[in-house]
Amino acid sequence: MTETITVCEVSELPIGERKTVAWEDMEILVVNYDGELLAIEDRCSHDDGDLAEGEIDTDRCAIECPRHGALFDLRSGKPLSLPAYKPVKAFAVKVDGNTITLEVD
Ligand code: FES
Repeated sequence: MTETITVCEVSELPIGERKTVAWEDMEILVVNYDGELLAIEDRCSHDDGDLAEGEIDTDRCAIECPRHGALFDLRSGKPLSLPAYKPVKAFAVKVDGNTITLEVD
């Protein structure tokens, strides 16, 4: 069942910034990618690296896992390079008034 969780106020996540939120036993990374709010699971599918610490590839809308360098598409969660070959979860982000929310299931 889909659930809506609150991330933060819009003003707390300006362009270029990122934030992590916890939901159940999962950490979720939310990124303001040039004004587009995107969210993926904050756990690399290769070996559980912490994606939130990675560099954002601004040309490819992707984030690089800091452990072994796999790139993940921030829109879909799909891996764009090895050593990861499985996707991570991607989540719908919404703005409700001044509040950023996530749809999780
Ligand atoms: S843990 Fe992310 S690439 Fe290995």
